[in-house]
Amino acid sequence: MFYTAPSILSSDFSRLGEEAAVCRESGADMLHIDVMDGHFVPNITLGAPIVKSLRKCSDLIFDVHLMISEPLKFIPDFVKAGADIITVHEESDGSTEKAVDMINDAGIKSCVALKPGTPAQAVFPYLDKLAMVLVMTVEPGFGGQSFMADMMPKVKAVRDEITRRRLNVDIEVDGGITGQTVSQAAKAGANVFVAGSYFFGAADKKAAIKTLTDEAKKACTL
Ligand code: DX5
Ligand code: ZN
Repeated sequence: MFYTAPSILSSDFSRLGEEAAVCRESGADMLHIDVMDGHFVPNITLGAPIVKSLRKCSDLIFDVHLMISEPLKFIPDFVKAGADIITVHEESDGSTEKAVDMINDAGIKSCVALKPGTPAQAVFPYLDKLAMVLVMTVEPGFGGQSFMADMMPKVKAVRDEITRRRLNVDIEVDGGITGQTVSQAAKAGANVFVAGSYFFGAADKKAAIKTLTDEAKKACTL
C-alpha cells in the first residue's frame, strides 16, 4: 500500500487550514508536519499549538516529524495535539527506545528517522515496535533540497530486514521526492512518500498526487 504525505513546510503558513484542505481534496493520505527547534536542525518551524489548531479542521492522518533535540520532553504535547504518527530521530538526545515506548503507550503509531549519515542498522533494535521507519533523503532542516539517490541502499537494507522478520512496517522517504525520484525510492522498498516543494509547487495538485502514486506502483512491479 502506498501513501502520499504533502509536507506543510512548503505551504503558505498564513493559510494553514486551507492548505490542509487542499491536501485532502487532492487525494493525499497524510499531512506531514515538520517540527524543528533551531537546535537539532538549523531552522525553526512550528509547535504543538499549531498542530492542535490544524486538528480541528483536518481529518487527514497527521504525520508529525520531530526534528528536535529533546523529543522525550515534547512527545506528550504532540500526542495531546492530535498526532496520529510521531517520528523521532535516532540522532536526538535521550533514549530512542524510551521515546518509541512513550509514543506506543499513548496509542498512536511510532516511527524512527535516520539522517543520511546514520546506517540502516541503527533502527534494527526497535524495528519490532515500530509502525514506520523514515529514511531521510536530504539532510533535515529545509524543504526544496535535492534527492539523495545514494540513500536507496539504506532503504533496501531496512526493507530486507522488515521482510526477513515478517513485520508490517512502512518505510517513509522524505526530501526531494518528485514524480521523477519517487520510482527509485519505491523500487528500493519505500511506500510512504513525503513531498513538500513538488506538491505545493504543482499547478495541478491532484495530478501531482496521482503521479506519485502511479510512478511508485509502476516501479514496484518492475
Ligand atoms: C526536511 C523536511 C521535509 C521537507 C521536504 O527537513 O523533513 O519534510 O519539507 O521538502 P521537499 O519535498 O521540498 O524536499
Ligand atoms: Zn519531514
